[in-house]
Amino acid sequence: MATAALIDGKAFAEDLRARVGEAAAAFAQATGRKPGLAVVLVGDDPASQVYVGAKGKACEAAGMASFEHRLPADTSEAALLSLIERLNQDEAVDGILVQLPLPAHLDEQAIIAAINPDKDVDGFHISNAGRLAVGQAGFVPCTPLGCIMLLKDRLGDDLSGLDAVVIGRSNIVGKPMAQLLTDANATVTLAHSRTKNLADVVRRADIVVAAVGRPEMVRGDWIKPGATVIDVGINRLPPEPGKEKGKLVGDVAFAEARDVAGAITPVPGGVGPMTIAVLLRNTLVAAHAHAGQPAPGGL
Ligand code: GUN
Repeated sequence: MATAALIDGKAFAEDLRARVGEAAAAFAQATGRKPGLAVVLVGDDPASQVYVGAKGKACEAAGMASFEHRLPADTSEAALLSLIERLNQDEAVDGILVQLPLPAHLDEQAIIAAINPDKDVDGFHISNAGRLAVGQAGFVPCTPLGCIMLLKDRLGDDLSGLDAVVIGRSNIVGKPMAQLLTDANATVTLAHSRTKNLADVVRRADIVVAAVGRPEMVRGDWIKPGATVIDVGINRLPPEPGKEKGKLVGDVAFAEARDVAGAITPVPGGVGPMTIAVLLRNTLVAAHAHAGQPAPGGL
């Protein structure tokens, strides 16, 4: 079997960011203000700090305003809710993102529920989850939206006749991913930790989306020859002796799967870069709706 084509999420994301940047400039011309994203980080989780910093930088690079709110780990729920209410009212803020996970004393569901759904560019509010479930326009979580963009770019908009397996049933990735694939006419299996004979389920799939957070769990001999494989996992292996940091790997055993699949996303450089690009895209869409401007085309 020939080696799989690499799905270059990094290049796709750069192109999307450039198109968002052009549309953001046109928005600023038309309205006299930049699209604005508020990012809220509570506590000092190192990974979250990196993500939040990257989101702020990406905003500014795309000609958007970034409002960062870094709060101490012992911030009360009342204080966080009051910040969200302020951001809901703030005319300069089009999108609000509360970085997860939150410290254990904060009720994540209650915090997300407080965000105005029209500013919920993460697509985590139950109103947006419900809109996706019933096929109404709303915000779709960034990672699965990025995955479906990569899939459609490769396979076309209509996935009729294709069997898709999503591994992982999280609210942030697995469930919305299954809905997006269903909307694109794929026949979808949503598999998870209790699925029996997962390898056999995956062997039937023309499209595999792995979002479980377990390093290299999906083996090469699970993959149907020619299948399209989207690897959402970002796992750091323990460092090798003498190294400070372990290697980043996905949920798919890449070297094995590459010999069987038709196309596959690498880790890093596959799905990862899409998440921030889609966040900018969602913020741009939110800004247009907020300003009463027609939705930007082609994004
Ligand atoms: N934590 C990990 N991924 C995400 C994300 O996409 N959005 C938010 N808000 N928090 C996260």
